[in-house]
Amino acid sequence: MAHLTMARKLEVTATWLDDDGRGVGDAGGRQVHVADLLPGERAEVVIEHQSPHRPQSWAQISARTSPLARDRVPPGCPAAGACGGCTWQHLAYPAQLAAKRARLVRLLGDAVPSVGPVTPSPSPWGYRNKGKYVVGAGRDGLVLGAHAPRSHRVVETLGCKVVAPVIDDVARLVRRAADRAGLVAYDERGRAGELRYVVIRADATGGALVVLVVTSACRADALDAAAEAIAGHRAVRGVVAMTNDRADGAIVTADTRVLRGAGALVEDLGGATVEVGAVEFLQVHRDQARALYARVVALALDGLPAGARVADVYAGLGGIALALARAGAHVTAIEAEPAAVAALGRAAAAAGLAERITAVAGDAASLAAAASGASLAAIVVDPPRKGLSAAALAAVVAAAPRRVVYVACGPEALARDLRALAAAGYVAGPAEAFDLMPGTPEVETVVALTRPAG
Ligand SMILES: C[S@@+](CC[C@H](N)C(=O)[O-])C[C@H]1O[C@@H](n2cnc3c(N)ncnc32)[C@H](O)[C@@H]1O
Repeated sequence: MAHLTMARKLEVTATWLDDDGRGVGDAGGRQVHVADLLPGERAEVVIEHQSPHRPQSWAQISARTSPLARDRVPPGCPAAGACGGCTWQHLAYPAQLAAKRARLVRLLGDAVPSVGPVTPSPSPWGYRNKGKYVVGAGRDGLVLGAHAPRSHRVVETLGCKVVAPVIDDVARLVRRAADRAGLVAYDERGRAGELRYVVIRADATGGALVVLVVTSACRADALDAAAEAIAGHRAVRGVVAMTNDRADGAIVTADTRVLRGAGALVEDLGGATVEVGAVEFLQVHRDQARALYARVVALALDGLPAGARVADVYAGLGGIALALARAGAHVTAIEAEPAAVAALGRAAAAAGLAERITAVAGDAASLAAAASGASLAAIVVDPPRKGLSAAALAAVVAAAPRRVVYVACGPEALARDLRALAAAGYVAGPAEAFDLMPGTPEVETVVALTRPAG
């Protein structure tokens, strides 16, 4: 490495955990990210890579020079470490919560006055209502798993403990059924094959929806044979085929057809019954999402009269919009995904909330048009990880609500957007955090901002 300017071997004590699960310690002003070193642990490490742009290095342990941290636990999943997911699984759950809070403190800085404790998941296991599997070819047939980090190799993830148990059970059947039907695993490099991904959703009653993501070259008879076998599982409510010939890594497309049974599961969201199909966004942790929505509603409607006009921007299937309407507000919900908007409209009608919810398919920036120019007392935004677009931020500021409640899965973008909202006169309250993804660095954050009167 021509740009290597520091010793290749040095001793490091980790003080915090990065998103990849590496312990980070300081070495003369340089941050050294060390694989399998937990905060509090010390080791002699060998530098493998140095950033040419920033004072950051990545290293492997050559010898441990301290006892293992008391918070170190054996990871629960067979593929932990290899599959690239759940990079914090080797840290005890209470320590994960503390590390998530520390991550928020570090990333949000002075954009919020304080960061509260992270509301824990009732259990760190079996919480995910959706499993996503990459399909690969193994020595003994198809493999259902995940790409190993920075590789096209598929690591089997059957036995994953973070998905609802029914998802793992159905995934094992899908693998057998697809194998027996002779479906050919898609090869990313050769861009050929039939079965690319399998997505399995589970509802609260233990029912499952199986989505087989295939190329347009997939043989219909083989696909049908696999679907027939999968539909025989007692938990499977439907099998859907989704065609995906894309080269950009996106798993989900809008091109779906039902092969067997139902095309959607039924979920209770904000007290209403919502159909969840193959493509719609749904928070992966049902119980924690419910707790989060309840808090968002309390913050958004605090001090507002019954019947206040509010907006839910980036509404998804409307978990927040439905809960706001049930609490008495009149809600404009904006969401880019038309299938989600249609499902939200049907759910609102079935729950007797149609009068209180206007669901609009469109970009977040079209807020004013969606609200038909009505004045909004509060706006909830729950954007994807990259945060608000400049146009969406401008639309929120132009609507000039007294209260903005920001729900974020990406703390970096949250910090940026909070600073922009502060520049527009909004004062941020404390950050409140919810753990919807134990075993990972992910944390869902809620911040209520108020525009002082006058
Ligand atoms: C983090 S999810 C939040 C969904 C919902 N609030 C919930 O809790 O289930 C973000 C949502 O924003 C939608 N979305 C992404 N970009 C958008 C845009 N430019 N305008 C409107 N919605 C968008 C996505 O389809 C997704 O449903």
